Amino acid sequence: MEPRDTLGRPLKALRISVTDRCNFRCTYCMPKEVFGPDYAFLPREALLSFEEITRLARIFTGLGVTKIRLTGGEPLMRRELPALVRMLAAVPGLEDLALTTNGALLPDLAPALKEAGLKRLTMSLDTLRPERFHAISDTDLPLDRVLAGLEAARTAGFAPIKLNCVLKRGLNDDEILDLAAFAREGGHTLRFIEFMDVGTTNGWRMESVIPAAQVRRILDARWPLEPIEAGEGAVARNWRYRDGKGEIGLIASVTAPFCRGCDRARLSAEGRLYTCLFAGQGLDLKGLLRGGHTDADLASLLAFHWKRREDHYSEIRRGATPGLPKVEMSRIGG
Ligand code: GTP
Ligand code: 5AD
Ligand code: SF4
Ligand code: SF4
Repeated sequence: MEPRDTLGRPLKALRISVTDRCNFRCTYCMPKEVFGPDYAFLPREALLSFEEITRLARIFTGLGVTKIRLTGGEPLMRRELPALVRMLAAVPGLEDLALTTNGALLPDLAPALKEAGLKRLTMSLDTLRPERFHAISDTDLPLDRVLAGLEAARTAGFAPIKLNCVLKRGLNDDEILDLAAFAREGGHTLRFIEFMDVGTTNGWRMESVIPAAQVRRILDARWPLEPIEAGEGAVARNWRYRDGKGEIGLIASVTAPFCRGCDRARLSAEGRLYTCLFAGQGLDLKGLLRGGHTDADLASLLAFHWKRREDHYSEIRRGATPGLPKVEMSRIGG
C-alpha cells in the first residue's frame, strides 16, 4: 500500500524532529526575543519516546518511506540520541538514515552516531568569521567548536559531509566564495539555501533572498561549473566544479520551488505530522499512537491522510502567504 497524494506524489522521506530545543538562537530561526528564557519548550513527557518513533518508522516504511532524516531544533540535544539511531537503523526497508545538525555537539557524539548506524550527516555553516558567527547564531559557543565538530565527523567516517549555508542579503552574502573555497579544500559538499519564510517569527522579506541563479553566476565565474542530473524528489540542484574539486548544491526554495517532486512528510517532536514545511496544522499522531490503535489501523489512516494531501506552498507563495499561521521551523527541523 504505497499511497499517492492528489498531485500524484509518493511518500518517500520522513523528517523526524526529536526535540524543539536548540543550543543556538539563529536570528532567522529562533530569535532570542521570541525564544527567550521564558519560552515554554515541550516537557519531556510530551515528546514521542524512542519506541514510539521507531514504531512509526516501521509503519511509514510500510507505506513507501525509504529515507529518514533526524532534525530538531538541534537533534543532538536529545538525550541518548545514538540509541534511537541504533533502533532506526534496524528498521527493515530503510535505505537511508541521515541527520541535520548545527555541529556544536559533534565533537562528543560523532563516533557514537557512526557506530550506531547513522549513514549521512549534514551540518549548518553560515559563516567562517567568528564575530559574524556569534551574531548569526546568538550563542556563547565559539565557531571553533562547530569546526571541531566538522573534523570529528570526518574522523568518525562521515565524509563527504554536506554543509548547509542559508544566505541572507547583507548578512553573509559577501562570503559566498570564501565558503565555497573552504568546502572545496575540505572535500565537503556545500549547499547554499535561499532564506525562506518558514514560521512566523523570522522577519522574512523577499529583498533578503539571494536568488540561487545569482549564486551560481558568482561561483561559475571563479570556478566553472557543470550541471549534475537531479535525482527524484531532490531539494538541491547540484553542480560539479569542472576542475574536479567536488560538487556544490543550490536550494532555490523561493525562486525555483520544487513542490512537484515533494515526497516528504515531517514529524514534530510532540508527534504531529505535517505534510508541508509551511503547514499551519499537523495531524496528532501521538494521540493516535497512545490511543490503542493497531499498526494496520495507523497505516491505513496515514495512507488516507497522504492521499488527501494537496500542499504546494512554495509554488503559490505571494505577498499575503508569508503572514499566514505556520508551524515554527524549530518544531519540524526545516
Ligand atoms: P538530502 O537531500 O537528503 O541531502 O537532505 P535535504 O536537503 O532534504 O535536508 P536538509 O535538512 O539539509 O535541508 C536543506 C534545506 O532544504 C533546509 O533549509 C530545509 O529547510 C530545506 N528543505 C528540505 N526539505 C524541504 C521541502 O520539502 N520544502 C522546502 N521548501 N524546503 C525544504
Ligand atoms: N530558510 C532556509 N533555511 C533555513 N534553515 C533554518 N531556517 C531557515 C530559513 N528561514 C536551515 C538551517 C538548517 C536547515 C535544516 O534549515 O540552516 O541547515
Ligand atoms: Fe539555528 Fe538550527 Fe538551532 Fe534553528 S535549529 S536556531 S537554524 S542551529
Ligand atoms: Fe514540499 Fe511544502 Fe516544501 Fe513544497 S513548500 S516542497 S510542498 S514542503
